[in-house]
Amino acid sequence: MILAVDGPTASGKGTLAKALAAHFGLPFLDTGLLYRAVGRQVQLHQGNPDNAADALAGCAFPDSLLDDPMLRSEEVGGIASRVSIHPMVRAALNKRQVDFANQPGGALLDGRDIGTVIAPHADVKLFITAPAEVRARRRHTEMTRQGISTEFANILADIRARDERDTGRADAPLKPAEDALLLDTGDLTIGDAVQAAIALVESRLRKS
Ligand code: DC
Repeated sequence: MILAVDGPTASGKGTLAKALAAHFGLPFLDTGLLYRAVGRQVQLHQGNPDNAADALAGCAFPDSLLDDPMLRSEEVGGIASRVSIHPMVRAALNKRQVDFANQPGGALLDGRDIGTVIAPHADVKLFITAPAEVRARRRHTEMTRQGISTEFANILADIRARDERDTGRADAPLKPAEDALLLDTGDLTIGDAVQAAIALVESRLRKS
């Protein structure tokens, strides 16, 4: 079984994807981490993420970089979004994701283009959303908890900019696959969102 989980930044898709992978016993790949590693590699080499050649050079990151805690930072997330615009970067990361999706025994991947590009044949595709204000509030709370002081307005502006870049790019833009099931987590607790996601997957599996 292949499960595809897509959605914008801070929609809760990462948390949901992990919970679903555990529930259905599937190996899990957070594909955003690959783009973050490219972004971090570009940053470490003082490259320009908007330059296609610099961004492509970042694709040669060592696997050990995937364990770098800096990958989770807002700053690297923003750089990841910028390098992910370049078609050559997307092509360079494609095989690794497709191979993971098609491994025997199935897989769950989360990202932006899993249901549309990486695994269009996935058994179930979920598209996780939430209003930008809710996502910004969640991120603000999370950062405050980590002792990082930031303005809510700046976070909201960053989230809107990232949404625009991820949905507006020409190559593999963020959008729900035609047969994706939509889940808006805006009014849900994490526990309720997980239960709703499991129920959606099970209902789609029963139909197929
Ligand atoms: O899911 P995330 O926030 O870790 O992803 C960081 C950036 O990487 C995101 O803003 C766009 C890019 N990305 C992508 O283009 N395609 C994916 N499948 C996953 C992430």
